[in-house]
Amino acid sequence: MATDPQPELFTWEFATDPYPAYAWLRENSPVHKTALPSGVEAWLVTRYADARQALADQRLSKNPANHAEPAHAKGKTGIPGERKAELMTHLLNIDPPDHTRLRRLVSKAFTPRTVAEFAPRVQELTDDLIDKFAAKGEADLIHDFAFPLPIYAICDLLGVPREDQDDFRDWAGMMIRHGGGPRGGVARSVKKMRNYLAELIHRKRENPGDDLISHLIRASDDGEHLTENEAAAMAFILLFAGFETTVNLIGNGVHTLLQNPDQRARLQESLAAGETGLLATGVEELLRYDGPVELATWRFATEALTLGGQDIAEGDPVLVVLAAADRDPERFTGADTLDLSRSDNQHLGYGHGIHYCLGAPLARLEGQTALATLLTRLPDLRLAGDPADLRWRGGLIMRGLRTLPVEFDP
Ligand code: HEM
Repeated sequence: MATDPQPELFTWEFATDPYPAYAWLRENSPVHKTALPSGVEAWLVTRYADARQALADQRLSKNPANHAEPAHAKGKTGIPGERKAELMTHLLNIDPPDHTRLRRLVSKAFTPRTVAEFAPRVQELTDDLIDKFAAKGEADLIHDFAFPLPIYAICDLLGVPREDQDDFRDWAGMMIRHGGGPRGGVARSVKKMRNYLAELIHRKRENPGDDLISHLIRASDDGEHLTENEAAAMAFILLFAGFETTVNLIGNGVHTLLQNPDQRARLQESLAAGETGLLATGVEELLRYDGPVELATWRFATEALTLGGQDIAEGDPVLVVLAAADRDPERFTGADTLDLSRSDNQHLGYGHGIHYCLGAPLARLEGQTALATLLTRLPDLRLAGDPADLRWRGGLIMRGLRTLPVEFDP
């Protein structure tokens, strides 16, 4: 209601449950300028129609060079890409025509068939991880399951040898634990990852295999190949974009199911009957209802423009709030209700337009395999402890739990 006071953003309460604040913004200030925790001012876009339009608007650039902040402030804002690392010249920080060329090249190497052929391996990884805690009757589903599954999956896909994958797990762990926090350890981890990827690309060039990095090196567009830097940046963005998102898809998804016992029971019954339809629509609904990417990554206005009736100046940062758009009652019937069988569900959880998630088929495969296997192998899975004790990470872009303690009869 218009008379409610404007809610505070970026507090602890907000990190735990941002949806009431987003409902207020959608209603009262749908394109809303705010100071972020870093001090940078940005526009938050919260209505579905505006969000979808903004995601496809070519006047909103992904290149941080288009940010109007004075040069001396750059590098302090936490905006990815402001540090001049080669790894940062990746798909989410560039515009056409470079984006078009690189996306076409990676699409040749990372096809739906590559992903489909990977299904047995994802099932095997899932079962191996569950085997490790199934007899204990308890687990932290983030640490023991949601976290390692995508990192091993992407490493396998990229062609990182198994004996090196635990190093990746440690570096990624450093990046996810300290994302938005102390930067020293993160910078060291990024550097180690960069050096490792550079060396791996070098080795794959000499000795190609049947993996994504080798396919990336081979992929060419009118005879044009990726440079070594472009290949390293591509490998890095695949890891970076495909890792914490999938951790949160599994974590938020299990959390939502545990909070909605009727829906969870329906899903378990359908899985027991050997059906996959509800699993497929259900994972999409979990993405809409409490998805991993709360805000889409940065965009910057390359010219003055109007969005949702609001004037935006050239150089202003724009953040599309996917979590708010996907609960917009103008677009979704019963927007705040979980309905695993929802069929009219064009949610924005994977974005929209030219930057639409490249890894969506892999994310769906991992999400569906992880949830189906957990619910089938541990049918009485329940939260251990008080739901009020759960802690959310509170990062700017991602939404996810720090831990998810569960118990079950072994
Ligand atoms: C882009 C979500 C998993 C690779 C995006 C975007 C979203 C998103 C919202 C667009 C961001 C924007 O426009 O600012 C998700 C979610 C995932 C997931 C919710 C898991 C549930 C993955 C996986 C991979 C991946 C597994 C790859 C292994 C990418 C890449 C882009 C991207 C490369 C950039 C595409 C471009 O700029 O052209 N993702 N993602 N994602 N995603 Fe995902």
